[in-house]
Amino acid sequence: MFTDLEGKVVIITGSTTGIGKACAQRFAKEKAKVVINYRSEKGNDLEELLQELRDLGGDAIGVQADVTKEEDVKRMVQETVKTFGTLDIFINNAGIENEVPSHELSLEDWNKVISTNLTGQFLGCREAIDYFLKHNIEGNIINMSSVHEIIPWPHFVHYAASKGGVKLMTQTLAMEYAPKKIRVNAIGPGAINTPINAEKFADPGKKADVEKLIPMGYIGEPEEIASVAVWLASKESKYVTGHTLVADGGMTLYPSFQAGRG
Ligand code: NAI
Repeated sequence: MFTDLEGKVVIITGSTTGIGKACAQRFAKEKAKVVINYRSEKGNDLEELLQELRDLGGDAIGVQADVTKEEDVKRMVQETVKTFGTLDIFINNAGIENEVPSHELSLEDWNKVISTNLTGQFLGCREAIDYFLKHNIEGNIINMSSVHEIIPWPHFVHYAASKGGVKLMTQTLAMEYAPKKIRVNAIGPGAINTPINAEKFADPGKKADVEKLIPMGYIGEPEEIASVAVWLASKESKYVTGHTLVADGGMTLYPSFQAGRG
């Protein structure tokens, strides 16, 4: 447990599913005040999730916002402050991907992925930092990157470009605002068992192919990423900024060189 997170106000984008939801559950266990963000429809499960977070020990509200829309991101911060009085932690988690050979990738698909995964994260960073500066808050930002800020990924050029962008955006903002004690870090998950991968992992052959890329031999669970997020948000990591903490079972360690190969 990270007791300094008790009462802290955290916005987590795209947090009704997958890694974002697991982060919300973990922050609620740490007794934080959690803002669940969803893109459009509330969905039947939202009230259930908010109640679950309160039962876990936190407080929670839901805020609709499309992270690609500047006005939505601004409003999300305003609604957060109106309800909880402040903002301490912003987790840019919302992200999308789709598989297309690069020579067939439409400009529309390219723009969709870049505007969600990179521009959306920039808007979250900018609004959070602006709030932190105006209110003298030593705030904390965590950007959900990917192992694909390191590993090239054919058929996913827009995704890899967006995560590569997140890496240098994270480092640049970390350097720019370090004098104000605002920390900006990223997490680089490997293959995690979430809806983004549901179709792929439902196919045993494709799942086994992915497992072969992971020296630890298994696909991660969203809770294993949430553990990293609470550490990065807590004062236990207070000297860490501009870092992407990779949590990938060893996927970025060149697994094809295992057992003396190469
Ligand atoms: P997910 O599909 O469950 O979560 C993504 C969430 O973002 C969804 O709730 C979706 O509705 C939301 N979202 C998408 N566009 C949005 C928008 N414009 N505005 C607001 N919300 C929006 O998938 P997962 O795996 O939980 O993904 C979370 C993050 O983790 C993403 O940034 C993804 O790139 C990253 N990641 C995931 C990995 C994995 O293997 N699952 C590996 C590496 C990174």
